[in-house]
Amino acid sequence: MTAQATSPLWTAQDASAAMNAPLTGLSDWDAHGVSIDTRTLEAGDIFFALIGEGNDGHDYVAQALEKGAACAVVSKPVEGLEADAPLIEVADTLQALEKLGIAARARSKARICAVTGSVGKTGTKEGLLHILSRQGRTHASVASYNNHIGVPLTLARMPADTEYGIFEIGMNHANEISPLVKMVRPEAAIITTVEAVHIENFSSVEDIADAKAEIFDGLQSGGVAILNQDNSHFERLKARALACGAGQIIAFGTQDMAEARVTRMSLKPDASYVTATICGHDMTYKLGVPGEHIVMNSLAMLACVHVLGADLALAGFALGEMTPPEGRGRRIEINLARGSFLIIDESYNANPTSMRAVMQALGNTPPGSRGRRIAVVGDMLELGDHAAAAHAGLSAPIVENSIDLVFACGPLMKNLWDALPANTRGAYADTSAELAPRVVKEIASGDVVMIKGSLGSRMARVLEALKALGPEAQPKKNNNEELV
Ligand SMILES: Nc1ncnc2c1ncn2[C@@H]1O[C@H](COP(=O)(O)OP(=O)(O)O)[C@@H](O)[C@H]1O
Ligand SMILES: [Mg+2]
Repeated sequence: MTAQATSPLWTAQDASAAMNAPLTGLSDWDAHGVSIDTRTLEAGDIFFALIGEGNDGHDYVAQALEKGAACAVVSKPVEGLEADAPLIEVADTLQALEKLGIAARARSKARICAVTGSVGKTGTKEGLLHILSRQGRTHASVASYNNHIGVPLTLARMPADTEYGIFEIGMNHANEISPLVKMVRPEAAIITTVEAVHIENFSSVEDIADAKAEIFDGLQSGGVAILNQDNSHFERLKARALACGAGQIIAFGTQDMAEARVTRMSLKPDASYVTATICGHDMTYKLGVPGEHIVMNSLAMLACVHVLGADLALAGFALGEMTPPEGRGRRIEINLARGSFLIIDESYNANPTSMRAVMQALGNTPPGSRGRRIAVVGDMLELGDHAAAAHAGLSAPIVENSIDLVFACGPLMKNLWDALPANTRGAYADTSAELAPRVVKEIASGDVVMIKGSLGSRMARVLEALKALGPEAQPKKNNNEELV
């Protein structure tokens, strides 16, 4: 391994003490990262051999060490290793990862925030990372690493000198958030919003609110709960936060009483312009990710920035430079032989709440000359008994947002297809693979095409087919960004 300029993430001694397990083999290593997957492992990582359904990390220990892992954490003998292979032998590798995460938290002086909610967790986490990394050493979850593995992994990866830590915490069932947030021990906890997402695992939306409110179980005593006052579950969440010992509630949204409130907003196709009051500070900022829902998330981000003691004015500038993450609103302009069309790539995921938010964003995007607003939508999964009505119910936002043409795929989207006004019906197919060529045939210069569906609906196939129609246009320089 090459020498690293920075101090190690974990020395062998510290890692062994954290996991309360002895070192075997070579024991003079330093680690600079933590990995659970040899495909992404880097030299110098500690490799945890986790045992999953149908996959056992112990089968990859030799490969991990060949790739330069500093050591491997194992719970059973692995054959074919060198006699002095650097190992830490534990009873349970996931528990060992949790212990390392807890030790990382214990040694840290970072100001820490946890983010949960039915939608907007990753966007809010990424926004905070973008803002705070300009102001201090910031550590955050990768992608949506928000579950019983992702959270301890993110903790274990947190450098000792981190100043700001941002943790996404998710759940599909009750009692999942509570143990995770107790490891994270945030001083600020954000609940973006509560909606009927993963409703098939719950008997009511109130039960979902209660499961989200588990985030307060790990809130530091006197910590701050940042809650969406426009959401109908606000009072329920607030009561729960106070009962858990929160010292302050910061409400965000559009209402006059909200401590973090928007007073004006101008929603443009590629950005929003916002005037807001954040805990007594008036500010005006540009938001580089369009959509009213992102404006709401930005209020939560700024409230959090304030709580963590970072600078609001710098945060305002940073928001202007934000761009949508891949699959979550990224805009791609494709050149055709004549003219071009615009893709709004929302292929990463979908539920009724985000689908409506994005249809509104499509409505705010004017097509080019003779172009149309086109929605290409695939099934929204995990909706249980609500599925048929939730899909059919999308015909209203389609009409409200002047969407000209709808292409739909999947058995659930048949409900929408049947509910659509006839003049908005583009085509319906069983799968995204069958739908893609139908969309391709229809696209013309000036069109704006929004693609969205649950990950399982594989809407990325439509995205790839459309991207193959021509080269990507170079993003236009936006004069708002540059001073002369
Ligand atoms: N506050 C919000 N209200 C409605 N939709 C939202 C909100 N925040 C984000 N979204 C949309 O939800 C989808 C998922 O966003 P993401 O940040 O990945 O959420 P999560 O991590 O909670 O799954 C995206 O389409 C995004 O534009
Ligand atoms: Mg996420």
